[in-house]
Amino acid sequence: LVADMKGLKKGALRLAVVTTAKYFAPRLLGPFCQQYPGIEVSLKVSNRERILERLADNQDDLCILGQPPEELEAESEPFLENPLVVLAPANHPLAGKKKIPLARLAEEPFLLREPGSGTRMAMERLFATHRLKIKVRMELGSNEAIKQAIVGGLGVSVLSRHTLALDAPMGQLAILDVEGFPIERHWYVAWPSGKQLSVVARTFLDYLKQAPKFVSEVPCHHAEQGECPLLPPATVA
Ligand code: PGA
Repeated sequence: LVADMKGLKKGALRLAVVTTAKYFAPRLLGPFCQQYPGIEVSLKVSNRERILERLADNQDDLCILGQPPEELEAESEPFLENPLVVLAPANHPLAGKKKIPLARLAEEPFLLREPGSGTRMAMERLFATHRLKIKVRMELGSNEAIKQAIVGGLGVSVLSRHTLALDAPMGQLAILDVEGFPIERHWYVAWPSGKQLSVVARTFLDYLKQAPKFVSEVPCHHAEQGECPLLPPATVA
């Protein structure tokens, strides 16, 4: 076992992760690469649709995505929570309101991720289940662009809470307390059914079990939790 740690495990690990996983996947790799210096990791980042294509083509050792693939034969394991939250500018009239009905939210102009995005898919599903139409103000191809557009007053959006890590425009965004939110999702690691996983891939799979330990909660830069605009009142103890 000690020999393992010292780098006896050698080889390549090819990972493909969906866009939103880039907020935590590289951080997860830090301790992994330290523990296994002999493993060389490459990370491909693309949206859900592209990652599914790569999975179908068996192009990577493992994929990370926001929902197990339904369209193709694959095995998958959940390893981390991925709550989707409603984001608005901090000065939005609904900020701070409790239990906002989904129908009320649907009156707001929305900023949507591009077609093929898993985030977009989950949000469209929720609205469709409630027979509500989304008022699309604009489509943007990145989480960062959406956060900036929210601050710019263009509309509201639904994004993974992970997108608030590190580079969020802190203090300028609020999480709205809307019924049905957060949409409770998970991050899954997946590989084609029947694929013979390499020792290196198995090592990483095993390592992912500790993921929650390495992915810290969204930092709140406000002294008092009650003052944190990123937490809806309902979740403030
Ligand atoms: P996306 O995927 O980055 O393609 O939106 C994220 C997810 O499926 O949760």
